[in-house]
Amino acid sequence: MAHFPPSFLDEVLARTDIVEIIARHVELKKSGANLMGLCPFHHEKSPSFSVSADKQLYHCFGCGQGGGAFQFLMAHDGYAFPEAVEYLADKAGMEVPQDTQQDRGDEARQKRDYELLVRASTAMHKALQADAGGKAAAYLQQRGLPAEIINNYALGYAPPGYGFMNRVFGSDNATQARLESVGLLAKGDYGYGDRFRDRLMFTIRDRRGRVVGFGGRVLDEGGPKYLNSPETPYFHKSDLLYGFSEHRDTIRKTKQLVVVEGYMDVLALAAHGLKIGLAPLGTAIGERQIREIFRLCETPVFCFDGDRAGRQAAWRALERMLPLLKAELMPAFLYLPDGEDPDSLLKQEGGEAFAKRLTEEAKPVLETWVHGLKLLAGQGAEGRARMAKKADTMLATMTDSYLMQAWRQEAERVSGISLQRQRPAAKTEKAAPQPRIDVVLNAVEERFMAGLMQQPTRLLQLSGPALDFFIDKPPLRALYSRAFSMQTDAETETTNIARQLIREFPADQNMLSRWINQATVQDIEYNSLLLDMEANDIRSRIRQGLSLGESVQLQKRLRELQAQQQVLKEQLSDTGA
Ligand code: CTP
Ligand code: MN
Repeated sequence: MAHFPPSFLDEVLARTDIVEIIARHVELKKSGANLMGLCPFHHEKSPSFSVSADKQLYHCFGCGQGGGAFQFLMAHDGYAFPEAVEYLADKAGMEVPQDTQQDRGDEARQKRDYELLVRASTAMHKALQADAGGKAAAYLQQRGLPAEIINNYALGYAPPGYGFMNRVFGSDNATQARLESVGLLAKGDYGYGDRFRDRLMFTIRDRRGRVVGFGGRVLDEGGPKYLNSPETPYFHKSDLLYGFSEHRDTIRKTKQLVVVEGYMDVLALAAHGLKIGLAPLGTAIGERQIREIFRLCETPVFCFDGDRAGRQAAWRALERMLPLLKAELMPAFLYLPDGEDPDSLLKQEGGEAFAKRLTEEAKPVLETWVHGLKLLAGQGAEGRARMAKKADTMLATMTDSYLMQAWRQEAERVSGISLQRQRPAAKTEKAAPQPRIDVVLNAVEERFMAGLMQQPTRLLQLSGPALDFFIDKPPLRALYSRAFSMQTDAETETTNIARQLIREFPADQNMLSRWINQATVQDIEYNSLLLDMEANDIRSRIRQGLSLGESVQLQKRLRELQAQQQVLKEQLSDTGA
C-alpha cells in the first residue's frame, strides 16, 4: 500500500480543480457561493449536491456524501486511494514519490497490462478499417451500425489465423506470457496462439473505462458464436456490464436504464439514440451486477424475450434482485414479442417505438412476481398452496421489511392463504448460516443430491418444477436453489460448486462432503432417481388432497413414470450395475 507524504498530497490537491473533476459527470449550476447539481450518489429530482470551488469540497445535503477530489474519484469512479492520488498527480504533471520496490513492481506491471489491452483494442479497431477487415466492416454495415458507434465503442476485427498479436506486439517470451495473462493469447500444445481469430471484436471496459477484455463474434456460421476473454486479474465477467462506463453519465442524466441480453442490443440501442443499455457478458445477470444497476438508476427496465427461456431468465433475475429491493427502487420487466431481441425490434420499429415500449409496456417487479408465482404453481387449491409456499421462500430472502410486508400482503391476497411471518433476511452479501437441525433425507433424496453435487451440470437439465418442488425440506431448499444459480453463473463446467456452497452454508459442510464422497451416481442411476423424485413429489401432492380431475392427471403421470422406471431398471440389470 502506497504511503504518500502529506506535503505531496497537499501539492496534488493544490494543483487540482475539483469542479473540473466533478463537472465531467454532474451538470453544475452556480448557486450563491457554490455550485449545485443532482447528486450522483443517490437518486433525486431537485439538486442537493453542492460543490465548493473555494474549499475544493463537495457535499450532498440529501445523502450526506462528501469529501474532496480524492474521495470523489474513489466514491464515484471506484478508484483506490493510491490510484486516485496517482491519477490526479499525473494530471497535474507531478512525479509520484517512489514507494517500495515491490509495490512499484506490481503497479508498473498493472500499468503495462492495461496499456497492452488498450493497444490490442486499437490494433483490432485498425484491422477493421484495413482492407483485410472488409468482411467484418461489411457485416457491421449490414447490421446497421454507423461509423460513430464503431468508433466510440472501439469495435474491431481479429484477423483469421495465428500471429496477429505477434505482429502487433512482437513475439519474445516475456511479451507472450503477458499477452496470455491478459487473455489475448492461449497456450496450446504448439505454444502460444491468438485466442481471437476471424472475429468481430467488442472492447469491454471496466467501470473506470479501462479496457479489460474482449468479446468476439463469429462472422459466419461456426461456433462458438461468441467468445469472451477468459477470467484474468482484470476481467471478471460477473462484475462487468457491457456499456457501463460508456453510458453511466447518460443513464444518470436521463434516469433511464435498460438491461438487455447482448452486445448487439446495447449497440443497436445506442445507434438509435438510446445510450442507456447495459448487458451482462453472456452469463445470467448476477447479484453484483444488479447492485451496480440499482446504484445507477432506481427505475431500470430488464428486457427479456417473450418465450419460455426468456421468462425463465426474467424469473431468475427477479430472484437475484429480491435481497436488494427497497421501497425506493422501481425495477420493471419488459417482455419482447416472441423471437425478437432489442436489436431486431429497433430495426423494425425504430427508437421511438422502443422507448415507448419501455415506458408503456414494462411491468413493475411486483406484478411480474405475482404473475410468475401463478404460472409456476398451477391451478386449483393445490396451486394456491404451492404458490404460498414458493412466496414464503422468496420473501425470506428480502431485506427491506416494509417492502416484504407489502409483497406478502399481495401474495396472501392472490393465494388466499396466510403466509409465515418472517423476519427480513440479514443484510449480508451471503445468506447467513442458519442454526441447523439435522436434515433427514430419504434414500432417494440422498442419492439425488449426491448425483447433483458430484456432477453439477446436471442442475442445468432440471425442469422448472424440479427446481421449485423436488427438495421441500426447509433448511435444504436454500442450498438447493443456490447450487442451481451458482451453476448457471459458472464460468466453466469445472467450477467447484461444492466448495463455494460450503463457504456459504458452513452448517451443511458435513452433508455436502458426504454427498461428494459417496459412491459415484452414474447416469443411469441418476435418471432413475429423477423419476423417483418426481413420483414422490406427485404422491405427496396426491396425499395433500386434490380435486378429482387433478388427481386423475397425476395418477396418469405416475403410471408413466413407473413404466419409464421399469425400462431403466432393466437396462440397469443388463449392464450388471
Ligand atoms: N453469448 C455467448 N456465447 C454464445 C452466445 C451468446 O456468450 N455462444 C452471449 C453474448 O454476450 C451475446 C449474448 O449472449 O451478446 C446474447 O446472445 P444472442 O442473443 O445469441 O446474440 P445477439 O447479441 O443477439 O447477437 P446477434 O444479434 O449478433 O446474433
Ligand atoms: Mn441479436
